[in-house]
This record gives sequence, C-alpha cells and structure tokens, in this order.
Amino acid sequence: MSGRDARLAGAILAWYRALGRVMPWRGRPDPWAVWVSEIMLQQTTVTAVAPRFGPFLERFPNVRALAAADEAEVLAAVSGLGYYRRFRALKRAAELLVSERDARIPDDEDELRELPGVGDYTAGAIAAIGFGRRAAAVDGNVQRVFSRLDAREGRQDGVRARRDIAARVLELMPAGAEGDFSQALFDLGREVCTPRSPRCEDCPAAADCRARALGRPEDFPERAPKAETLDVLVAQAFVRRDDRVLLLRRPADAARMPGFWELPEVWIAPADDPREALARELVARCGLVLEDLDEIARARHAITRHRLDCRLFAVRVTGRARRGEDLLWLPADELGRDDRAFSTISRKLIARRN
Ligand code: ADE
Repeated sequence: MSGRDARLAGAILAWYRALGRVMPWRGRPDPWAVWVSEIMLQQTTVTAVAPRFGPFLERFPNVRALAAADEAEVLAAVSGLGYYRRFRALKRAAELLVSERDARIPDDEDELRELPGVGDYTAGAIAAIGFGRRAAAVDGNVQRVFSRLDAREGRQDGVRARRDIAARVLELMPAGAEGDFSQALFDLGREVCTPRSPRCEDCPAAADCRARALGRPEDFPERAPKAETLDVLVAQAFVRRDDRVLLLRRPADAARMPGFWELPEVWIAPADDPREALARELVARCGLVLEDLDEIARARHAITRHRLDCRLFAVRVTGRARRGEDLLWLPADELGRDDRAFSTISRKLIARRN
C-alpha cells in the first residue's frame, strides 16, 4: 500500500472509531441483523430506518422467523418505508435459505449475490460487516468519496467505475477492520463528503484528497443529466357507510406496494377530471355508483420520479359494494391505528382531512 493510501485508511478508520454515529444495528455483527439493516437502508434514510429496525428484528429475529411469517405481517412491519419489493425479496431469500441451506446465511460474497434482492452492494456489505470478510460495498456515498479522494474524471456510476472503486476500497481496507472500514466510508459520504457543500474542514481525509487540492470537490463525480419529473394527480375516495370506510387491497403482484390496503384511488394527469376517473374506478372495482364528491384534504408526496398532488374526496355512492377478500369496510375509528400494511398516501390524506 502506498504511503498516501495507508494514511487515508488510518485516518478514516480512526475518525469512525472516535466519532462514528451510533446506530441501532452497529456493534452487532450478527449477519442477519446486518442483512436486515442493509435492506432497510436501501433508498431510505438512517433516520427513517432507526425506529423500525429494532421492532422488526424482535418480531423476526432470524432467517427462520421471517421465512415462516405471513407476507402481510412482514409488510405491516415495514409499512411506510417504501420500495416494498425489497422486503418481499428478503422473505423469499429467507425461505430459500431454510429450504436449501438449513437457514444458514452464506459468508461468501458470490453466494450471497445469488439470493433474491442481494446485489453487489448488499453482498459486499453483509460479507464485510456481518462476517469480517474482505469485500467492498460500493453505494452512492462510497462512489462519491473515492471520486473525490482520487479526483476521478467522468461519470462514476457505470459498471467499470464501480469495479475500480471496489478495488480501491479493498486496497485501503485495513485487515481486521473490514466492517468498521465499510461503515466509516458510508458515514463519511453521508455526513461529511456530501453531494453539495462538503464539510472538508471536518474530513479526516482532507489532506490527501485530490478533488480538494484542485479546489473543486463538488465537481466530482460528474453528475448524470437530471431525470425529468412527472406530475401526477392522485385522487383517493373516502367512501363512508354508517361508521365504516371502504378500503381496497392492492394486488399481490402489483409493482408498487403489493398487498397494501388503501383508499380507492386513481392516478391521472393533472388536468384530468378526478370525478370521472373515480366514478369509473368505483364502478369497476367495487360496483358502486358515484353520486357526488367533495374535496376534503390535500397532500404532496414524491415517489422516485413522480411528483404527486394527492387529493382526498369524500364520496357519496349508491349501490351495493361487491364482496371480496380485497375489499374491506373498516370501522372509521380504526383508521390509522390498525396495523395493516397501509398506503402512505392514504395515511397522509386521512391525517389531514378536515
Ligand atoms: N448505509 C447503508 N448501510 C449503512 C450502514 N451499515 N451504516 C451506515 N449507513 C449505511
């Protein structure tokens, strides 16, 4: 290892050990806990994950517990975190391990990568943090840190750049500190080497950072052109009968929020008429005829590239709703306090209803 690399590795590790954030999954190198934390942290902030991690592990303390659980219960335990496909994949992986490996989690990166929902990043993280293996976990934070340390030119999100950065992580990784070093890089990227206005004055690697020496750390890595955002109007129906409210369950194979309960909803263009769209939806899915509607709440919500203008309508209907497992009249006073997996948009709108 070069003198510069040795200094960098030592300074980053020492910084983490002195100042690294306490997080509920740290100091607990149980591979199952590490796996769960890494899945939860995909696309989700540490702040959102922290309160959900402990209760999840308590309910599903190991691979067998998750494999044996009902999917609905698993989804309820992560309701609100978004991107639910990752948790269904985790459950499938647990089932596979029970049936094929006596519930043992592989300690090898390549074998980990064979599991549903485990890509290069997650395999590296479980191997390094959970098993102390020399493995690289390269996420967006780590990409940014190394882009700047080495002043790497060009985009850094392609396969080739990721592979080069993974090799750099392994070059620097101190023996015996594989897990700590990996987490040090995550923390450094998230809290110090931030995309905008990096806090170089607090960075343990500042003296050896090439992007900083050039005086323009923010220029690394080169950014992708901004993806276009799509504006959508989401109209949800609050259909009340006596003291009950109508909920529908999303199909088990839906791409978004499979198996979740929600108020009947439509996604339409901002200029379209929510009344017409909801009328069509209520007839088609519930057998109910919309008579009248009245807007009672609004909320904004963002899902990947979609910017959602969400509106809740109190809806008067006639007709008798069809029966089915995917349709439920929930007592109104249970709204918001029952523990079903429940749409975040519906939750937000209900909370804002006047
Ligand atoms: N982001 C992803 N995994 C993480 C971890 N283990 N610690 C901190 N941030 C993370």
